[in-house]
Amino acid sequence: MTLTVPGPAEALLRERCQLTILGEILPAQRYREAIQGAVGLLPQLRDGIDEAALDAAGPTLKVVSNYAVGLDNVDIPACTRRGIYVGHTPQVLTNATADLAITLLLSTARRVVEADREMREGRYQGWRPDYLLGQEVTGATLGLIGYGRIGQAVARRAAKGFSMQVLAYDPLGVRPDPEIAVEECPLERLLQESDFISCHVPLTAQTHHLIGPSELASMRRTAILINTSRGPIIDEPALVEALQQGTIAGAGLDVYENEPQMAAGLADCPNTVLLPHLGSATGQTRAAMGELAARNILEVLDGRPPPAWANPELAIQR
Ligand code: DGY
Repeated sequence: MTLTVPGPAEALLRERCQLTILGEILPAQRYREAIQGAVGLLPQLRDGIDEAALDAAGPTLKVVSNYAVGLDNVDIPACTRRGIYVGHTPQVLTNATADLAITLLLSTARRVVEADREMREGRYQGWRPDYLLGQEVTGATLGLIGYGRIGQAVARRAAKGFSMQVLAYDPLGVRPDPEIAVEECPLERLLQESDFISCHVPLTAQTHHLIGPSELASMRRTAILINTSRGPIIDEPALVEALQQGTIAGAGLDVYENEPQMAAGLADCPNTVLLPHLGSATGQTRAAMGELAARNILEVLDGRPPPAWANPELAIQR
């Protein structure tokens, strides 16, 4: 286990396993040395589980249970080839992440961080009709790029809570939701017609820089871009340029291309709300993620597949 996590994960694992907690994110070589002979790994999203790490762990390794829903740090095909189960933590973080996407949408639209700074720095001089005007959220059009569990949860909040029209694009297709009206559309139309655009796709070779200079140029000058998925979905220097030049109106970001760094100039753009990767950061959710990640490992020790696994093709192979 790389880091201690809130909740029962550690106790659950200690009941059944010899548990080693590394206590820090190690550089790749030291991580590889540390995991030699492990039967299960519970990595963080900053640990790279690649061929070299799997070689280092050796033939004892049966399961990798990532403490995240995103699996871009894990070479899933390499695990599958070696008969190693890949577990992760979907569902338990859907609501927390969707809540944060809406938080970013509202706070960017209504310039909450800029306004807070006005108060703290003593610049508020009394109410004025034209002071810190933001954008109306209720009834606006929200474009969702990615319509999996989190995208759908954002759609429900937006449609039911704020009467927003929802457009959705997903490379895997958009399943209709009986509770709300969501219109599936091509990415180009979504970019052109949305007031707010929120990204919810996993990071893959296909989604890397899905939003680059030409996609930003297609958006409305009043558009606000939200990202709670993975930073490299957006070409961050291109986003900074778009914000500086007024190509789009603002951005609410929880993830960055080269975390923990930000692209040069981003922090100076006033029309942004910038959070340090907090999508799943509630005590309850982080505990539930830990419990699920631990159960993924324990089930494999009992000879069963993990409750949440990303390489079910292994069942056929076994
Ligand atoms: C994930 O789970 O992939 C998040 O980025 C961390 O909660």
